[in-house]
Amino acid sequence: MSRTSLSVVTDSVTARAPSKVNLHLGVGPRRDDGYHDLVTVFQALSLHDDIRVARANELSVTVRGEGAGSVPADASNLAARAAQALAGWADRAGYVAIGIEKTIPVAGGMAGGSADAAGALVALAHLWKLDISRDELAEIAAGLGSDVPFALHGNTALGTGRGEQLMQVLSRGEFHWVLALAREGLSTPAVYKELDRLRDTRSGDVDEEGDFLRSPDDLMQALASGDPRAVAPLLHNDLQPAALSLQPTLRRTLRAGVDAGALNGIVSGSGPTCAFLCADEQSAVNVAAELSGAGVARAVRTASGPAPGTRVLGTD
Ligand code: C5P
Repeated sequence: MSRTSLSVVTDSVTARAPSKVNLHLGVGPRRDDGYHDLVTVFQALSLHDDIRVARANELSVTVRGEGAGSVPADASNLAARAAQALAGWADRAGYVAIGIEKTIPVAGGMAGGSADAAGALVALAHLWKLDISRDELAEIAAGLGSDVPFALHGNTALGTGRGEQLMQVLSRGEFHWVLALAREGLSTPAVYKELDRLRDTRSGDVDEEGDFLRSPDDLMQALASGDPRAVAPLLHNDLQPAALSLQPTLRRTLRAGVDAGALNGIVSGSGPTCAFLCADEQSAVNVAAELSGAGVARAVRTASGPAPGTRVLGTD
């Protein structure tokens, strides 16, 4: 083999995967399979993880960055499971070294694990030069977790089923967010379980109307208008009372963000990250500074949305 042909072999691929916030999260009753039907509007945010995959003689995972110490660095990591699932589809060995550079908070309700899985799928499909359609990739993604298809898709989308069935939503302009990261994470199954318990006992702030799976038409119109002031009052999360019940200090965080000048604040997904929608970029910077000083969060970040879906950043 000549030197020239050797030099075109790709040894590693890096993909960038977005985080998400649910602008609307309607949760139906618990299904027989333990999941809940959802009607949700996802928005992908610029806060991201980078996932590098490199040819190797065995499967390995290394994790660096935000919360790295609490992410499993073995075959149970969702990115490793994604690699195994894609190797199964391609009928090949899943030997690959996965390196994850985290910025998305771990167990934060922003789909960080799902982003890592989506990143592994996109990077490996490129490394292995697989002839796989976006739909086939989305099907593998759905088998890995309810939020993985959206991490692939990005932008703004309406999610139904477990959240894995997606339809693009028209969203004009850029929205500016402040994210308050909590000191302790929350487990997604625990938050869903708490919602079931609150609904059974009809306690807390849980919605008792039962119209959980209505279509968020007003929100979608507001998104199409591109006006954050129209979007802000329509933010809604059925999981919020459950997250607040498990971490009552989040109430103070939500209040502090609005007091600091955000248009509205919401628990992101199953929490405990709180997401604040701001009028513009400058306002987000101001809210972030004030929130940092208020001592209600472990860390504060700014982010914008909608961000693109998982994509290849580069190859070596
Ligand atoms: O699909 P994923 O593995 O991300 O879901 C994690 C957990 O969150 C599930 O085991 C379930 O307890 C809960 N969940 C749910 N209904 C959904 C999505 C997740 O009850 N639609």
